[in-house]
Amino acid sequence: MNAAVRRIVDRKRPDRLPAWKTLAGRRKAMGGTTLRELFGKDRDRATRFSVEALGIHFDHSKHLIDAATMKALFSLARQAKVEKHRDAMFGGERINVTENRAVLHTALRAPKGAVVEVDGVNVVPEVHKVLGRMGTFANKVRRGAWKGHSGRPIRNVVNIGIGGSDLGPAMAYDALRKFASDDLTVRFVSNVDANDFFEKTRDLDPRETMFIVSSKTFTTLETMTNAHTARRWILKAFKGDIKAAAKHFVAVSTNAVEVEKFGIDTANMFGFWDWVGGRYSMDSAIGLSTMIAIGPKRFRELLDGFHDMDEHFRTTPLERNIPVIQGLIGLWYADFWGGGTVAILPYDQYLDRFSAYLQQLEMESNGKHVRLGGDHVKWDTCPVIWGQPGTNGQHAFYQMIHQGTRLVPADFLVFAEPLNRIGDHHDKLIANVFAQTEALAFGKTLEEILAEGVDPAVAPHKVMEGNRPTSTFLCEKLSPRMLGRLIAMYEHKVFVQGSIWGINSFDQWGVELGKKLAQAMIPELSAKSRPRLKHDGSTNALIRKYRKIRGRK
Ligand code: F6P
Repeated sequence: MNAAVRRIVDRKRPDRLPAWKTLAGRRKAMGGTTLRELFGKDRDRATRFSVEALGIHFDHSKHLIDAATMKALFSLARQAKVEKHRDAMFGGERINVTENRAVLHTALRAPKGAVVEVDGVNVVPEVHKVLGRMGTFANKVRRGAWKGHSGRPIRNVVNIGIGGSDLGPAMAYDALRKFASDDLTVRFVSNVDANDFFEKTRDLDPRETMFIVSSKTFTTLETMTNAHTARRWILKAFKGDIKAAAKHFVAVSTNAVEVEKFGIDTANMFGFWDWVGGRYSMDSAIGLSTMIAIGPKRFRELLDGFHDMDEHFRTTPLERNIPVIQGLIGLWYADFWGGGTVAILPYDQYLDRFSAYLQQLEMESNGKHVRLGGDHVKWDTCPVIWGQPGTNGQHAFYQMIHQGTRLVPADFLVFAEPLNRIGDHHDKLIANVFAQTEALAFGKTLEEILAEGVDPAVAPHKVMEGNRPTSTFLCEKLSPRMLGRLIAMYEHKVFVQGSIWGINSFDQWGVELGKKLAQAMIPELSAKSRPRLKHDGSTNALIRKYRKIRGRK
């Protein structure tokens, strides 16, 4: 292990840092302190525990925290050297040590003229060169100037990818629908389940359809299976004319060799780099479908939003740094309150896929039990991330958050300015956000319920204990720039937590075993003759049962 790697790997166990002990003490001292008590004691609590930056008002006053706890959390961040680790990331050091890679998604949104070096080479000019090529291509498609093999313009764009090569673009397309061209249909195929490909293409005309095959490695089973199916679908429409594929496929990848093997001309390939992790790649060429949908100018605004938050994270003191506070409060629940979950509740239908996107971002980054040095963690890491837009969730799972037995800290995100001004929808939407966080924090006591004249036998069922912690992100308006800021906010929150836990937030070895086993199992399922199975009893029986149902020996 060389000195540079050792510097990154040698991280103190957080539970051995003095601030961890202080926090354990704070947790004991807080005991069953309620949010009612905390607000009762401090008239300025809402001001004390809220931060305003970049059009985002972040109210964290409805959390089970006090000034002493926050002070200890900031000390923990300092003792864990989060700032040093952050600077190492921004500086292009190879902090992803298990893959020997730098982690530079922040370079993807750096403005022209910025300097970000990897091994002494400034990567920003190369980033902007690819953005320029993407822009030319996107404009051509948007203008109808990119013609399919039949000479008809492309009107349908289908991104084929999975995980980081799907979730970001798919989420952003929904989120920025209001800014997208109405002349184009944009779809996303990800699942290896044929139902996905079938349903996303059944009403499309192949002569007007272009596929963007997006895969960092260009070897992912799901993506390559869908890409081959797409090629057959196109070729069928052109009676097997092999030349047709050229006008109907482009690739986004780091693997030119595999792109060429698949049959896509590398002139129609948009590249990126090994220092861009899959789940951090929506600002790279992986965002090509987003750029086609909203246009290069708005795509730049999206990148600028990311960059705004990068700068906020990089330069703002910890005490006013939104992703830092967010990360620390999350860690407070995960490690000192047994909080195993966090709900993401955007009150905006356009953010329909936001929690799905954050599931990969957070859980693939920090869902780990091994520290950078190879030792097993002795504390909890990433909680389960889940959620869906409000108000729908209110009529589904909120009952459990309000009256269940588990602690579910939740993020409420909402935009003050509506994108569609229709009647009084927006005031009603906002009222629901504020009402929910108020009810979750302060609840309703038995005395209050009885005072309303409720039948004493029913009254206990109506008690709301309160003390359910929430963050409220009241943002100005949903726009490409604001979306970029919000996503980068979560990226850096993940970074803060991963740094303190001392894990590598940028690899994903845990997904490999399942992939390998599935590859080996495909021939066992499809073989004509009875395969010799060497799995465990359950797996063998399932394979046999499946083969029987499908009429195989
Ligand atoms: O599921 C694991 C993973 O490697 C993700 O990290 C990644 O985003 C996804 O697969 C897709 O990978 P690729 O872009 O190489 O197809």
